[in-house]
Amino acid sequence: MKLIWFDSIDSTQDYIKSHINGLSDDTCVVANSQYKGRGRYGHVWYSSLKDGLYFSILKKDIHIEPLSLVVGVSLFKTIKHLYAIIPFIKWPNDIYVFLEKPKKVAGILVEKIRENVIIGIGVNLNQEDFPQDISDRAISLKLFTGKHISKQRFLTTFFDFFYDDIDYFKSNGFEAFRHIIDDNLLYKDKYISANGGRVQGVLRGVDEYGNILVEKDGNIFSLNAGEIESMISKEMW
Ligand code: BTN
Repeated sequence: MKLIWFDSIDSTQDYIKSHINGLSDDTCVVANSQYKGRGRYGHVWYSSLKDGLYFSILKKDIHIEPLSLVVGVSLFKTIKHLYAIIPFIKWPNDIYVFLEKPKKVAGILVEKIRENVIIGIGVNLNQEDFPQDISDRAISLKLFTGKHISKQRFLTTFFDFFYDDIDYFKSNGFEAFRHIIDDNLLYKDKYISANGGRVQGVLRGVDEYGNILVEKDGNIFSLNAGEIESMISKEMW
């Protein structure tokens, strides 16, 4: 694996995108801060502070689906292993912890460019506070654990899990990942509403393809990540 580390850059995701032909498989680009960090659906990913971890990994010639869920499992394992806390996996691409209510600690953005995949990961490590518009639903691992989080240690542990998980997934498929996701799924068995209320029902789990299963009026529907833009639950915890 080749590691390129910037102090500041527009976006690690966009750096890989614009240099894709000159970069080798498994190149990882890390930045201490980004001034145009992006999340899914064109959202801004606040990255001005060096307290967060912002990185992207290039995987060439990869067709495996559902890769983003496998990455989510690697992040889940990293947090569980390092800090002895059990986070939630918010399908399809986020990691949450629970403090009075579920709050996001990490997000994943997977983009395909021809036969290449760029996996972008943002983790809230040591932020003490967040911009007002997200302060209600974002949290850092430091705020959650009360301890300083080592960026280096987080990254190396993540890579250990990530490469093991990718290898395992390539040879054995999604089933083992499906169970980890099912067991740690945010909003499992809760009434959820997605896409501004156009999708509603009880979240029952994840199927063998990584789609979510939503129960409505006794029927189970399977929905893929492209069909769900935002998912919330108003049920009490
Ligand atoms: C999301 O939750 O919507 C996904 C957030 C992904 C953010 C990461 S930070 C590193 C990489 N560079 C970006 O501009 N975005 C991703």
